[in-house]
Amino acid sequence: MLVICPHCKKNHSIDEKKIPANAKKARCTSCGQSFALDIKRPVKEEKKEKPVQKSDGVARKIGVSLSKGGVGKSTTAINLSAGLALAGFKVLLVDTDTQGQDSFMLGVKPKAGLTELVTGELSLKECLTKARENLWLLAGGKALAGIKRMIDRKDYGGEMTISEALTPVDKLFDFVIVDTSPGWDPLTVNVLFYVNELMIPVALEIMSLQGLSEFLRSISSIQKYRPELGLKYIVPTFEDKRVKKTSRILHKIGKIYGERLCHPIRYNVRLSEAPAYGKSIYEYAPGCNGAHDYRELVRKVANNPKLLS
Ligand SMILES: Nc1ncnc2c1ncn2[C@@H]1O[C@H](COP(=O)(O)OP(=O)(O)OP(=O)(O)O)[C@@H](O)[C@H]1O
Ligand SMILES: [Mg+2]
Repeated sequence: MLVICPHCKKNHSIDEKKIPANAKKARCTSCGQSFALDIKRPVKEEKKEKPVQKSDGVARKIGVSLSKGGVGKSTTAINLSAGLALAGFKVLLVDTDTQGQDSFMLGVKPKAGLTELVTGELSLKECLTKARENLWLLAGGKALAGIKRMIDRKDYGGEMTISEALTPVDKLFDFVIVDTSPGWDPLTVNVLFYVNELMIPVALEIMSLQGLSEFLRSISSIQKYRPELGLKYIVPTFEDKRVKKTSRILHKIGKIYGERLCHPIRYNVRLSEAPAYGKSIYEYAPGCNGAHDYRELVRKVANNPKLLS
């Protein structure tokens, strides 16, 4: 850089790197007089914040549940979790189903899971499987049958078994998403004593509306003891606009549930193909309707319309 002495006007060519960062004055080697140095150094670029709002330290716990089978619970749990993780949230997906499909759907082979955590055989760290960046899985599977028996044998407090085991995860994640099995068993009851928010996928057909009202009756029996358990999201699944009754059912659900009704997940063959490749829908077919619809769900849950857009 060029520094001109304000007294004798002599030009000095100086290597800027050799000037100490805090130097404020310089002395002219020609006239010997000192003068103020005013060097404009490039301002270091500040680290950009992650474009994500983290929750306030305690995880939001969302149960994806409905006693009716095959309505899209696991598909929703997987793609909601993967989408939130992609958006930068730290997510734990807990599979409480003895079918243990979530690990297959994510293409991971867990060494341990929820069973070992509940029995205390292994530490939380040993039970978690990292599935993706920001996404961990606490796997389900056949071994959970033993946990059901363990819960049944307890004289009291059996319904808190999962809550007690999951206490340490609260501060580690932004979201804990819990996938449940079809039917109504001690594990589902446990999940309903653990989560605060309930997400119910409803396949758009009359039969599943009946299933919904039955399920909600069971939920209200739990809410007597756990008023904090709120029905937050109704997710219509398998939407097929060519079928007339679909829009009728959607309209009916909308009238009852208002704001809690989410953007429907369309019937999309890509959603049924992705699990065979162990991929989320964003990995398997990011441009398909299924990916579009699940992104919409992620935005609604995170309450941020700009996420993943
Ligand atoms: N929107 C969709 N479009 C097409 N296929 C879908 C859609 N959602 C889910 N599927 C497929 O439907 C089947 C059932 O979905 P899923 O396993 O998610 O349901 P579930 O409620 O978890 O079932 P279960 O009660 O047995 O646990 C799966 O083969 C899945 O790939
Ligand atoms: Mg399932």
